[in-house]
Amino acid sequence: MDIMTGLKRTHSCGQLGKQQAEQQVVLCGWVSRRRDHGGLIFIDLRDRSGIVQVVFSPEMDKEAFAKAESVRSEYVLAVRGTVKLRSAETINENMSTGAIEVFGAELRILNSAKTPPFYIQDNIEVDELLRLKYRYLDLRRPEMQYNMILRHRVAKAMRDYFDSHGFLEVETPMLTKSTPEGARDYLVPSRVNPGKFYALPQSPQIFKQILMVAGIEKYFQIVRCFRDEDLRADRQPEFTQLDVEMSFIDREDILNIMEEMIAKLFKESIGADVQTPFLRLSYQEAMDKYGSDKPDLRFGMELTNLSDVVRGSDFKVFETVLADGGQVKAINVKGYANIPRRELDGLVNYVATYGAKGLAWICFTPEGAKSPIAKFFSDDIMKKITETAQAQTGDLLLVIADKAPVVANALGQLRLEMARRLNLIDQDKLNFLWIIDFPMFEYDEEDKRWTAMHHPFTSPRDEDIEYLESDPGRVKAKAYDMVLNGTEIGGGSLRIYNRELQEKVFKAIGLTPEEAIAKFGFLLEAFEFGTPPHGGIAFGLDRLVMIMAKRSSIRDVIAFPKTQSATDIMTQAPSEVASKQLKELSIKTAVLVKK
Ligand code: AMO
Ligand code: AMP
Repeated sequence: MDIMTGLKRTHSCGQLGKQQAEQQVVLCGWVSRRRDHGGLIFIDLRDRSGIVQVVFSPEMDKEAFAKAESVRSEYVLAVRGTVKLRSAETINENMSTGAIEVFGAELRILNSAKTPPFYIQDNIEVDELLRLKYRYLDLRRPEMQYNMILRHRVAKAMRDYFDSHGFLEVETPMLTKSTPEGARDYLVPSRVNPGKFYALPQSPQIFKQILMVAGIEKYFQIVRCFRDEDLRADRQPEFTQLDVEMSFIDREDILNIMEEMIAKLFKESIGADVQTPFLRLSYQEAMDKYGSDKPDLRFGMELTNLSDVVRGSDFKVFETVLADGGQVKAINVKGYANIPRRELDGLVNYVATYGAKGLAWICFTPEGAKSPIAKFFSDDIMKKITETAQAQTGDLLLVIADKAPVVANALGQLRLEMARRLNLIDQDKLNFLWIIDFPMFEYDEEDKRWTAMHHPFTSPRDEDIEYLESDPGRVKAKAYDMVLNGTEIGGGSLRIYNRELQEKVFKAIGLTPEEAIAKFGFLLEAFEFGTPPHGGIAFGLDRLVMIMAKRSSIRDVIAFPKTQSATDIMTQAPSEVASKQLKELSIKTAVLVKK
């Protein structure tokens, strides 16, 4: 006989309610809590669907009661019993199954459990490293189970959507050649080709384009990508993309289809209504107004440019910055003129972490403007500052002068920080927008060369092609990002589909013709065999689910994520390997091993 024989599960715990009253049920699950009230033992039994209360008493069944006395938290049980309506005064409104309880007639202990290192319940305050070490216990917690269920639903809704619109899911290789998405590659040594390495894909970018050459026409894939980069709350070394590519389309087609897909996804997985079409901002507008290419528009507080207004004042700092081609910009923190002095000093340090050399402020108090820099400004300039920033009594103006990228970064971050501090962000809002008209290239000061801002397969705008060689900085790309609540959730572009233009772009990023052929010769060759115009996009599935689940880290929506230092605490990966393995792979390491 097998331990499960004769006790076939009939219901899930969370499914039970008044409609099952007086029915006999068999439940399986874990002991969430056990309370001993002398002659009565209450067990909260938990499975994936929820928790239900099971009662044992010697009157109902002596043997079951005796066993119930011995169970502890997280024991695994099978229970046969009868669903009973609770009396009015014992109804538990906080439990979805709180109108009923199950009178236990038979109890089978399927397994025992050690005392877990933390409570298996929501909202626990536990070091995340401990949660990751015992991830199987962490994942038992209802909120984590919800996240896993939500993630499944989202992926399912994606597949349904693309299937019903004629897309094919095609798998692409994991052991492949490096693709340039801007991060470092994870390399895998090839045993049979000593000294040679595969790269794990940073994205399926080149393969999905080749699939367009191959006539697949509409492709999607829910696919793992690997990037060796510095990790943050919304970045993992391996993460999942919803990857899409289409032939015979223009930008409007892609943006419209993706909006429709996203709206359906949010409706089906969390019941949220998403308004389409989404707002579109050019990259330049977003940088000017919000200091970011992924602005959070759930609140205002736009950046105001004061450069022209303060020009010609006695304030040396501003004059020097302006003379060097820099900017003076401000945010108006409405109604916060009474900010404590200590907090102001803290803000100076805050913006310094984003590279700002200083922060000036003007408090518009009922007694007039209070500011360490007001003395440098004529009445006329003060009046213009007030007007331009639309400052009123009670407002606080925070001003940064520096080179444009520093002002954007520091003031953009300060805008977010002030909104968080003053609670200006409505957590129930879903604010979607597109950022379009990205620059094609950005200048890498370290390497002294231009690099592709999206990736080098992105098409430049037709009207800018002539500047590819003479003035790469002014070339705009046919690229777009989708932003949700200040997070970049997706990005894509229309692609180059002929060899000549692709070679020009490779040249612009400093690849010699020989290097271009060594790295991407197969793509250049494919382009000569009838390539349809095509374009696509990829979404960060983890980021999408994170926002849907109202989480602040993608680790909470990934079953087995890595830590900030790219390790898996549970399995202890990465780990050393046997020297025999290294030998087989023709690898010598020069790493200093810890003693
Ligand atoms: P991109 O590099 O913008 O585009 O990636 C697409 C989306 O993937 C998510 N993402 C990440 N999520 C978690 N951890 C990471 N380390 C991480 N890196 C990226 C983001 C991002 O918007 N091949 C192109 C797409 C295309 O052109 O079609 C690409 O990969 O949400
Ligand atoms: P200082 O003359 O250096 O004492 O600065 C006078 C005020 O100007 C102080 O409040 C500084 O924080 C501020 N300040 C200095 N540099 C900058 C800058 N680059 N941008 C904005 N404010 C600045």
